[in-house]
Amino acid sequence: MALMSYRLPTFLVLCLLFSYVHGQPGQLALTFYQNSCPNLQTIVRSVVSQAIANETRMAASLLRLFFHDCFVQGCDASILLDDTPTFTGEKTAAPNANSVRGYEVIDAIKTQVEASCRATVSCADIVALAARDSVNLVGGPMWNVTLGRRDAKTASLSSANSDLPGPSSSLSTLISMFAAKGLSAQDMTVLSGAHTIGQSRCLLFRNRIYNDQNINTSFAALRQQTCPQSGSDSNPAPIDVQSPNSFDNAYYVDLVTKQGLFHSDQELFNGGSQDNLVTKYSTDAAAFFSDFAISMAKLGAITPLTGKKGEIRSNCRMVN
Ligand code: HEM
Ligand SMILES: *[C@@H]1O[C@H](CO)[C@@H](O)[C@H](O)[C@H]1NC(C)=O
Ligand SMILES: *[C@@H]1O[C@H](CO)[C@@H](O)[C@H](O)[C@H]1NC(C)=O
Ligand SMILES: *[C@@H]1O[C@H](CO)[C@@H](O)[C@H](O)[C@H]1NC(C)=O
Repeated sequence: MALMSYRLPTFLVLCLLFSYVHGQPGQLALTFYQNSCPNLQTIVRSVVSQAIANETRMAASLLRLFFHDCFVQGCDASILLDDTPTFTGEKTAAPNANSVRGYEVIDAIKTQVEASCRATVSCADIVALAARDSVNLVGGPMWNVTLGRRDAKTASLSSANSDLPGPSSSLSTLISMFAAKGLSAQDMTVLSGAHTIGQSRCLLFRNRIYNDQNINTSFAALRQQTCPQSGSDSNPAPIDVQSPNSFDNAYYVDLVTKQGLFHSDQELFNGGSQDNLVTKYSTDAAAFFSDFAISMAKLGAITPLTGKKGEIRSNCRMVN
């Protein structure tokens, strides 16, 4: 009995150590491709870096691609599947159509990764790494990404339409839609800081700049210049009025000065439960960066396919 009570804890500690280093089937791990594709992270970073050098906005687009992948069936690259006459994917869903960008960059990464380590790395992991590098390459934090996600053989148009929040969402809707994915209100407020980069089309913020009450009047007037009451639906505007090309904490300063572009953004600073956190991030970029990295890891861990589930697609746009 004495022996037993000594050996069992030792065994458990060794198991824990082993799984921490190597990962367990069913879990994501930092070292997943360490032996099978040692150049993976170098390839991803280099292609993402070139894409951003060509067009800065691509950093924002790749970050959003990851969010829209993970919120629909989990982080399984379901968003990448093209429609065919016999298959309906997620690309035509309302939040994605004429909106989500970056598919060609993922293709370019996949081509190079396949050339280096064939049939080994999932498209879902490539999307997760591309999002991390995008943030870091435009001034945001760096963090380690756990890997081992596998690619879905299915997609869900209906989940893409129902599970992604829209720009007119209330605070309570935002909190409950993130809770449905296992993310807290704080995760929601931190991840919304992604809106410190990128652009939006006029039709998605028109109602806010003409009809909302809690909006900075000079900011509303500025946005109205290129987003008329009717027409010009696709005219772009930066989401962060101050520094749309750099990943910083300016988004939270925007909210404190009532310059959130979407109704949903300003809901985070409108006298409700997230006001204190928004105020903190508006003055403490280091806290935002460190919390953002933590919440991105949680976003990236939403119901991944692991072990023998799913597949490693050879072309990210179609099932094998
Ligand atoms: C909290 C709820 C959220 C809502 C309601 C929301 C809504 C939107 C909308 C309406 C757009 C503009 C789309 C267009 O013009 O077609 C947008 C853009 C964007 N969103 Fe969100 N979003 C949310 C959360 C997030 C999260 C969690 C991330 C990433 C972690 C994210 C990253 C982005 C980025 C980077 C862009 C700009 C993309 C580009 O320029 O290509 N958003 N979002
Ligand atoms: C560079 O960016 C432009 C958009 O600004 C895009 O049309 C073009 O395809 C990109 N080229 C490459 C090589 O990524
Ligand atoms: C990532 O992990 C490596 C090795 O475990 C560590 O040396 C490095 O500091 C970590 N990087 C970050 C940004 O956390
Ligand atoms: C409105 O925005 C301007 C910056 O354009 C800022 O200086 C001002 O403080 C804001 N007003 C309010 C009430 O926050």
